This record gives sequence, structure tokens and C-alpha cells, in this order.
Amino acid sequence: MLADKTIGVLGAGNMGEALIAGLVKACIVEPRQVLASRRSEVALAYLADTYGIRTTTDNKALVAQSDFVVLAVKPQVMARVLDECAGEFHDGQVVISIAAGITTAFIESRLDGRAGDRRQGPPGRTGIPVVRVMPNTPALVGEAISPYCLGRYGSSEQALLASQIFSAVGVTVQVPEAWLDTITALSGTGPAYVFYLLEGLIEAGVAMGLPEHLSRALVRQTVFGAAKLVTETTRSPQQLRAQVTSPQGTTHAAMTYLDAQGFLQTLQQAVFRARDRAAELGRANDGQNSQDH
Ligand SMILES: NC(=O)c1ccc[n+]([C@@H]2O[C@H](COP(=O)([O-])OP(=O)(O)OC[C@H]3O[C@@H](n4cnc5c(N)ncnc54)[C@H](OP(=O)(O)O)[C@@H]3O)[C@@H](O)[C@H]2O)c1
Repeated sequence: MLADKTIGVLGAGNMGEALIAGLVKACIVEPRQVLASRRSEVALAYLADTYGIRTTTDNKALVAQSDFVVLAVKPQVMARVLDECAGEFHDGQVVISIAAGITTAFIESRLDGRAGDRRQGPPGRTGIPVVRVMPNTPALVGEAISPYCLGRYGSSEQALLASQIFSAVGVTVQVPEAWLDTITALSGTGPAYVFYLLEGLIEAGVAMGLPEHLSRALVRQTVFGAAKLVTETTRSPQQLRAQVTSPQGTTHAAMTYLDAQGFLQTLQQAVFRARDRAAELGRANDGQNSQDH
């Protein structure tokens, strides 16, 4: 159903590139169906050379030519970019945002208020459909989880098409928008918690005298194996941990220390902070919105 559709990736940085790579590699679309924009011409030349896609520095041209517009800029520049391009959005398009904290209502209000003509007026199902997606960086290896929700306009069929785009980089799941800031903190930010854990373990190995390359290899394969195990078994993480924790053994000594230090509480507080920051980014944009209007 995506045949002959143009997918415009506006702000093709890390996540945008991951999506482009996935789309092209999984043959979800032909490279010529993808159009990417950002300001750096050098970076765009790299994207064109690597993936065979079309590129432009002109966001307006991208919006005018795209059936699906993936907004992949940072949350802080979203309002500016929407205002710049508002006049180019048109019927038949689906707008997909991956920006942390930015609500579908914010994007809709920006498009309804600025694009003029038929999209203005009383609420109805006539506006441009906006889908909000929260992928994560394992998109780079086709293993993202991308929860998504649909705003007030559009059909479930359009939401499904948007999810089909993100299925190029992993798994998708539809969720209520009210959960998206929490999801941003949990799975959007999630890989960073795991990477941080890896850093700590590698450093511990080195501190105890192992060569760094060995410590790195041990930790990397351990985390990979643990992730595979938790994915392929019906046992919970707690049960898997209990299985390797014998009384007075080595794992028991490590877990007792972590518990005494409040490791889980600290981790959970960190996730709560990330969720609060996502909400804050959304409010900052809403504030900008009301000041502007
Ligand atoms: N990284 C993650 O783990 C992750 C996960 C889920 C969602 N997200 C969301 O994904 C979005 C992008 O994150 P990212 O990590 O990919 O950031 P990023 O690498 O900085 O990508 C954003 C890109 O936007 C471009 N840009 C900035 N201003 C622009 C403008 N006016 N017009 C066109 N392009 C512009 C920048 O390129 P130029 O400087 O060349 O313009 C940059 O490459 C964010 O909203 C973030 O919340 C990120």
C-alpha cells in the first residue's frame, strides 16, 4: 500500500537515518520514494550516496512532495519547522512525529491554525492526520520498539500505514497517547540505561585487572545472551535472576549490595525524571504555541 508513495523524512539525523536505512534495507519502499531533508549538505550527500534516496535542504519542498511526512527534528525546533512549512501541508498526507514530548494536539493546532483554507474551522475529521511514534535506537539494527498513537484526525488505516513504515525498523504497537511520555522514558530512552550498565560492568572488569577488549567482549555477549534469554523464555526477569542466585553465592553477594545501595529505586527515579522531562518538552512547545497565537 506504500507503492508510489513518497516518504519525506524532515530532519534526517540519527533516528531519521535509522528509519531510512530500515525502509531501504527491508525493501518496504524503493529508495527513490524516500526524500530526506536537513540543513547540512554534506550529511545529505552522504545519505544520497549511501541509500540512493533523494535529498533536499528545502523543508517546504519536502512537505509539498511527500505523502508521509516524518518529523524527525528535535522537539525544540518543531514549532519553527511546522511554521516554516505549514502552508505546504495538504489533504491526503499523513504527518508522523517522532519528537519526544510533542503531542499530536500541538502539531494539529499548528497545522490547523497556520495552513489556512479548508483545515480551519470547527473540529471535525477534516484536518491532516497526525501519528505520534516513539521509536528507539535499536532501529539501527532493525530491533526497535515503536509504540504509536493517532491524533484526532485520520483513520485507523492511515495509522496502520504509518506503523508499516516503522515496522521496517522493528516492532510496532498501538497505545493511548496518554502513555507516550512514560513510554519515551522507558523504551525511547531505554537503550541508554542498558548502555550505561554495560559501561559500568566493562569498567569494573578493567578495574579488577582484565584487558579492556576482553572485558568489553564478555559484557557485550552477556547482555546479548541475557536479552535473548528473557525474550525466548516464559520466565520473568525476576525468576531468571532467582535461578542464578544461590544462597551465599557470588550473585547473592552482588545483589545484596545493590539492594542495600537502593539500585532499583535509583533506576526507577531516573526513569521518572526522563518521563517528566518529556512532559516538560511538550509544555515548552505548548507555551510557545499559545504565545504565538
Ligand atoms: N535518539 C533517540 O534515541 C530518539 C528516540 C526516539 C525519538 N527520538 C526523537 O527523534 C528526534 C530526532 O532525534 P535524533 O537523535 O535523531 O536527533 P539528531 O540526530 O540531532 O537529528 C535531528 C536532525 O534535525 C536536523 N535539523 C535541525 N534543524 C533543522 C531544520 N530547521 N530543518 C531541517 N532539519 C533540521 C539536524 O541536521 P542539520 O543540523 O543538518 O540540520 C539533525 O540531524 C527527536 O525529536 C527525538 O526526540 C530520538
